[in-house]
Amino acid sequence: MQPQIILLKEGTDSSQGIPQVVSNISACQAIADAVRTTLGPRGMDKLIVDGQGKAVISNDGATILKTLDVVHPAAKTLVDIAKSQDAEVGDGTTSVVLLAGEFLKQAKPYVEENVHPQVLVRAYRKAAVLCVQKIKEISVKIKKEDPKMTNDAAAHLKIEQRSLLEKCAATTLSSKLVAHQKEFFAKMVVEAVSLLDDLLPLNMIGVKKVTGGGLEDSRLIAGVAFKKTFSYAGFEMQPKKYVNPKIAMLNVELELKAEKDNAEIRVDNVEEYQSIVDAEWKILYDKLDKIHESGAKVVLSKLPIGDVATQYFADRDMFCAGRVADEDLRRTMKACGGSIQTSIQNLTEDVLGSCQNFEEIQVGGERYNIFTGCPQAKTCTLILRGGAEQFIEETERSLHDAIMIVRRAMKNDAVVAGGGAIEMELSKYLRDYSRTIAGKEQLLIAAIAKALEIIPRQLCENAGFDATNILNNLRQKHWSGCMWYGVDVMTEDIADNFVGCIWEPAVVKINALTAAAEAACLILSVDETIRNPKAGGEGGAPGMGRGRGRPM
Ligand SMILES: Nc1ncnc2c1ncn2[C@@H]1O[C@H](COP(=O)(O)OP(=O)(O)OP(=O)(O)O)[C@@H](O)[C@H]1O
Ligand SMILES: [Mg+2]
Repeated sequence: MQPQIILLKEGTDSSQGIPQVVSNISACQAIADAVRTTLGPRGMDKLIVDGQGKAVISNDGATILKTLDVVHPAAKTLVDIAKSQDAEVGDGTTSVVLLAGEFLKQAKPYVEENVHPQVLVRAYRKAAVLCVQKIKEISVKIKKEDPKMTNDAAAHLKIEQRSLLEKCAATTLSSKLVAHQKEFFAKMVVEAVSLLDDLLPLNMIGVKKVTGGGLEDSRLIAGVAFKKTFSYAGFEMQPKKYVNPKIAMLNVELELKAEKDNAEIRVDNVEEYQSIVDAEWKILYDKLDKIHESGAKVVLSKLPIGDVATQYFADRDMFCAGRVADEDLRRTMKACGGSIQTSIQNLTEDVLGSCQNFEEIQVGGERYNIFTGCPQAKTCTLILRGGAEQFIEETERSLHDAIMIVRRAMKNDAVVAGGGAIEMELSKYLRDYSRTIAGKEQLLIAAIAKALEIIPRQLCENAGFDATNILNNLRQKHWSGCMWYGVDVMTEDIADNFVGCIWEPAVVKINALTAAAEAACLILSVDETIRNPKAGGEGGAPGMGRGRGRPM
């Protein structure tokens, strides 16, 4: 009898070969199916309830996949590309997953018929490169500003650029819950991003949510805004409006400590006790006097500001807010200048911030502190209004997509037409190209050309149109040279989406295509999964009798 060779630990689960590739492909298709129906303006939303019973309503591919908690190792790749698309360009996360799923689906019959995965991988890589070249070639660019330009021409260009950005933002928003208000929000988002400095830092756009009111009550504040913090008696007497105030930002507690919190001290008589209490008061008053002398009108602190301090400030026409969130205080510092102080000793002019207007206003049921006309960094705050909490949260995510798109489009202003137009054109290009080459590659490139049609097809299916019919019309149009024809979801027909102003930045499509092709290649080139029974979170091979009580 031959001796048995034991290579791996008992309980190790290993599966390999073509069945393994096919099973990975099926898992990825299941992921693509999960987000399929959310694509496009007529896409549906998903409601996901997590372990704690918290409900999330979303249309965003990345958010859905993140919340789904996928455990299949190969399918996780798709979750990762959705996340990376989200981080890189913000939008197009559903598209990237669908494309990757479709690339794999087209590869499946070839894998089953023993075409070597490496042949597929090579063809896929080539197709991706060709597509990117083609996008770069046909995307429409807006002229860059030129120092030699006359003032008039520059002003004209600014307007043109702004309308381009607004259109890109509107396209992104048109597939979201807030689609009805897309013009309103597109303007707001472009305005918000244009307030930032050249680096366009995302964290300089604060987003605050106040439930109640209508979506259109949302507003953009050119400066910092945050919710009124907890306050003590005396607060009502403080002025709530200043012009050109100095702002002191502190990380100091301005509160009397209850005696029992202090160190334990043995005292023999009342006088001694009184002196301890007096000392405590004196320390506090010293601090308050220093703040007052510094000339600050608005005092913000990360730590509590107690009742004595509140009344002290009220008597001297000053405003104070304690327990300001760290993030808000930082943003105020970036915007208004100055620095956050951990002691009161050095409250000189240069550590105080300033702004043109400070005001406390009512937003819905909440009071908000608002600083505008900030001299330093450029920052802004969106205050979102709306009914249900989930609704506002989805609005925030949608605006995040739009903000990312506008930032991307600002840096790199080449656009293509959406609604499946660019995908159809790429598909036609690849199909034409495949006819010029021989061998297996011809079929494989044609398979990718077919896979690209998934985007217009899905847009039609989600809108309830006859996909076969519309795709035939589109193929015919693109064949005759009309390259921006795509699905028109309003009229159940095809239309020139460039004229229809359904514009998307070219980077979104380039990134989506390369990421999807990369993911497909990655999954095709994996032909063995080995699961270590100890390391794997999901347990090893079933049936090994380790009895951990897990369902098998
Ligand atoms: N008015 C429109 N008419 C036709 N197609 C549109 C229109 N607006 C957007 N689209 C298309 O809808 C698709 C985008 O859909 P959707 O926003 O749901 O998914 P996504 O951008 O891929 O992912 P994400 O979930 O991150 O937004 C794009 O292909 C876009 O061209
Ligand atoms: Mg989108």
